[in-house]
Amino acid sequence: MEKIIDENKQGTTLITEANATNTRKLFIESYGCQMNFSDSEIVASILAKEGFNTTQNLEDADLVLVNTCSIRDKAEQTVRKRLEKYNAVKKINPGMKVGVLGCMAERLKSKFLEEEKIVDLVVGPDAYKDLPNLIAEVDDGREAVNVILSKEETYGDITPVRLGGNGVTAFVSITRGCDNMCTFCVVPFTRGRERSRDPKSILDEVNDLAAKGYKEITLLGQNVDSYLWYGGGLKKDFKKASPMQQATATDFAKLLRMVATAQPKMRIRFSTSNPQDMTEDVLHAMAAHQNICNYIHLPVQSGSTRILKEMNRQHTREEYMALIDKVREIIPDCGISQDMIAGFPTETEEDHQDTLSLMEYVKYDFGFMFIYSERPGTMAARKMEDDVPEAVKKRRLTEIIDLQQKHSAYRTKNFVGKTVEILIEKESRRSDAHWSGRNSQNTVAVFPKEHYKVGDFVMVKINDCTSTTLLGEAVGYSENQE
Ligand code: SAH
Ligand code: F3S
Repeated sequence: MEKIIDENKQGTTLITEANATNTRKLFIESYGCQMNFSDSEIVASILAKEGFNTTQNLEDADLVLVNTCSIRDKAEQTVRKRLEKYNAVKKINPGMKVGVLGCMAERLKSKFLEEEKIVDLVVGPDAYKDLPNLIAEVDDGREAVNVILSKEETYGDITPVRLGGNGVTAFVSITRGCDNMCTFCVVPFTRGRERSRDPKSILDEVNDLAAKGYKEITLLGQNVDSYLWYGGGLKKDFKKASPMQQATATDFAKLLRMVATAQPKMRIRFSTSNPQDMTEDVLHAMAAHQNICNYIHLPVQSGSTRILKEMNRQHTREEYMALIDKVREIIPDCGISQDMIAGFPTETEEDHQDTLSLMEYVKYDFGFMFIYSERPGTMAARKMEDDVPEAVKKRRLTEIIDLQQKHSAYRTKNFVGKTVEILIEKESRRSDAHWSGRNSQNTVAVFPKEHYKVGDFVMVKINDCTSTTLLGEAVGYSENQE
């Protein structure tokens, strides 16, 4: 479960190479989804031009920025705890200023300043280019807030500084916002309407990463399959575009083909796919390009058609199963993962059984499973009572997790005896004599280092496995190795 960085994980501090002329120190940390981590790289890039070098020492910081997540109540509580810590540090470093970025900033707006005395600066996800002005205000002793959401901002013109990474894998954001309005989800409120980034700026970024030695990119968006570039602007305004713009538009399948063709030696991944927007054309693009990884994160949230309807997910249980059949037909060895929510309002025991039976049908490689958390302002919060008792939610979640563990074990066992291509990303967490990397299906493999190094594509014979990890030995470089 290395792919998605959940809020339970301690926020990651980001460091950049120091610029000798910069004099101020920025401590920036991120919570929540991959998009937040990617955004923090954009913020660090903007502030590097404003005289800030990053530091890993909170105590040294002139400016502390925390990129926040609102997806579940627990995510917000984690950030509140972090603010308490900043408060303690401020007692020994009184000049330190504190800014809140991301989804909580957007959700709470200037209320943040009232609720948390430590906060000087509140900046929403579309307002990062305004940071230089906002910081100038704070320097003058005023509080500063910008939470305006944009119809156009994609930060396509900003080259992110790659922070704290391994130099091998990188995120490239391709869309911002979400138009789906799932009734449980706060994202459309905190990240605004959906817009796509110019494919040319995406290709430039990918080519630049390749030139710097990166070997794998993940195209990022709340709903990547909905990607649509017709010259800029909101997805919902596509209908108003000129016939010429409409005819020459780039959709996600086309973008995938462009990126895969431009860098045939690079692995391409993408996240997240929403079932109703995933086209067969995307599956054919995946099948046609060996370098597009055979892996789809395809959240379903529930196996009950009635609950899916209440969630405003735009498909039924049967349609989702038909999509899974299509995936398996076009890409037989595709890894598939899920997100599930246990205890959505009105969920009955029968609905829950539908979720378990859907899982049996798909046998996901892995998944991210959550208890429903009511989010203020969402349709579910306004129209539905959060009526499933906490104990029932917990029990259902445990059943979902237990079943997933069984399926993960089944999937990893399928690789035993096979030889798979692994891109080496880092040292194994358990042993400094072993490398860790992932196969095309996004399953982690661990094997003895020998003479190989980070960034190598190697063929690994899988001899054993746990429910989440493949264990093996390298038998040589893959054809992909330069
Ligand atoms: N499309 C997005 C989804 C972001 S939210 C993406 O890029 O992944 C990630 C997951 O959090 C969702 O798929 C859902 O399973 C879960 N989630 C969202 N809102 C939630 C809520 N109110 N309570 C519990 N889980 C939630
Ligand atoms: Fe949220 Fe649904 Fe969009 S889960 S991010 S509203 S696809």
